[in-house]
Amino acid sequence: MEKKWWKESVVYQIYPRSFKDSNGDGIGDINGITEKMGYLQELGVDVIWLSPVYQSPNDDNGYDISDYQAIMEEFGTMEDFDRMLAAAHEHGLKLVMDLVVNHTSDEHPWFVESRKSVDNPYRDYYIWRPGKDGKEPNNWGSCFSGPAWKYDPQTEMYYLHLFSEKQPDLNWDNPKVRQEVFDMMNWWLDKGVDGFRMDVISLISKKPDLPDGPVGINGYASFNEPANGPHVHEYLQEMREKVLNRKETITVGECSGVTLEEAKKYASSDGKELNMVFQFEHMDVDADANTKWTDKKMDLRDMKEVLTRWQKGLEDIAWNSLFWENHDQPRSISRYGNDSPEYREVSAKMLATCLHMMQGTPYVYQGEELGMTNVPFTSIDQFRDLDSINAYRELVEEQKVFTSEEMMRYLRYKSRDNARTPFQWDDSENAGFSTGTPWIMVNPNYKEINAKDQLEREDSVFHYYQKLIRLRKEQEVIVYGTYDLLLPDSKEIYTYTRTLGEEKLLVVCNFYEPEVSFEMPEEFIGGTCLISNYPEVSLKAEMTLRPYEAFVIKK
Ligand code: GLC
Ligand code: CA
Repeated sequence: MEKKWWKESVVYQIYPRSFKDSNGDGIGDINGITEKMGYLQELGVDVIWLSPVYQSPNDDNGYDISDYQAIMEEFGTMEDFDRMLAAAHEHGLKLVMDLVVNHTSDEHPWFVESRKSVDNPYRDYYIWRPGKDGKEPNNWGSCFSGPAWKYDPQTEMYYLHLFSEKQPDLNWDNPKVRQEVFDMMNWWLDKGVDGFRMDVISLISKKPDLPDGPVGINGYASFNEPANGPHVHEYLQEMREKVLNRKETITVGECSGVTLEEAKKYASSDGKELNMVFQFEHMDVDADANTKWTDKKMDLRDMKEVLTRWQKGLEDIAWNSLFWENHDQPRSISRYGNDSPEYREVSAKMLATCLHMMQGTPYVYQGEELGMTNVPFTSIDQFRDLDSINAYRELVEEQKVFTSEEMMRYLRYKSRDNARTPFQWDDSENAGFSTGTPWIMVNPNYKEINAKDQLEREDSVFHYYQKLIRLRKEQEVIVYGTYDLLLPDSKEIYTYTRTLGEEKLLVVCNFYEPEVSFEMPEEFIGGTCLISNYPEVSLKAEMTLRPYEAFVIKK
């Protein structure tokens, strides 16, 4: 297998609004990030992925961009950005920008022009259609509730928005749009950034006839209907030639609706498109058929089936990205682990072990390295995320699909805001995030869970992540070894091996609280324990795994 630095790296995602506020206005900012480079260096990560910092009306916290070459005022200035980039590089960290080009803000000058008239030069930058029988052109739904079409009285036509009304979809079939995007990307590369995380890049190429799709619980087809459209690979290959080939970069495509077969094209090791993709099948194992709004728990066998299919499916031909969390997902420890004070740390370490030992590039979302948990929201007014707020309005108030109590339970379990509360730096007011009033509530558990405490404590979740990251640098088998699942039918244990030539690792994780017996494969008895989440492990043929126990043995 070809060796690449981005296969050997660990990426840390920063959600700037919630990371560190440097000027007391309650909003995290660029200077706050610059202050904390030492923290990231100590953790040992190699690359920062920065969620959007561009000028934006903030309908979707920066994922609605009105100027791709300006910085959001609340976050600072372009000079602040340049200083942050230099500081990252001085600390040996690379910086990856979030590239949000499936759509712009409706306040972007292109859209302001586009909606003016049917013969405006920018008309064809977006996707406009006449209504059908006085209704929307097709049955597609927005990711954030309601239809994916908005009627615009100025020209009496509808525009497509797979996300909010304030996020109109760009028309990638227009070569001028592609050229604008490529020019902008080159401008950022010339500035010195090291790569791109490409927001919903799988959705950019729509089938020309925009066909209806099967409907979900709210009566609309999924926003993922256009996923992996007819020209998406062609457009990414063009991007590779016109932009990415100019420089050594790291690229990851957020590919909602991606299948394994499609991923082999997006992330093929022939290097024609992207380095890797984010797939979401393992984020759906605890969803209902039609909706993520449920508090159903996963069946571990489903999780193993999905992750194993991806591990084996991409082996030798493409590359995986590994994640439990990001700014769109709830906290993994509350979802797949146990966030009670008794098991919080041990289960956070177990989840980290399970993920970081797989083949692929691991992503750590801010606060995950502390075992930050979901948030005890009590009222819909405490939410800031339009996805959560709109879903509550649609499913509780308008369509009465769920009662308010049910929906609040689902939001506490699945809302994106669970991952967006301020980073917990210390046990002072507002968790040391801000001296002002934070834009979203602070998780009340910050006195128990915070970076200051964990940096001082050798057995903390932080130091466990630090060790996992260090092991990846020391043990090639963690990066390049092949993955093989053991015990596929076990409901409690996730165990697999990694093999590279003569080297072999065994990873064992008990995903639940009850003790469970485990028969150690013979070749590993007498092996060396590389890491474990209990102080002592005694390797025996017949073992009893303790609650959430995890360890890695080298033959
Ligand atoms: C991606 C982002 C998400 C955003 C959406 C629209 O899924 O991760 O936060 O709301 O795209 O840009
Ligand atoms: Ca601020």
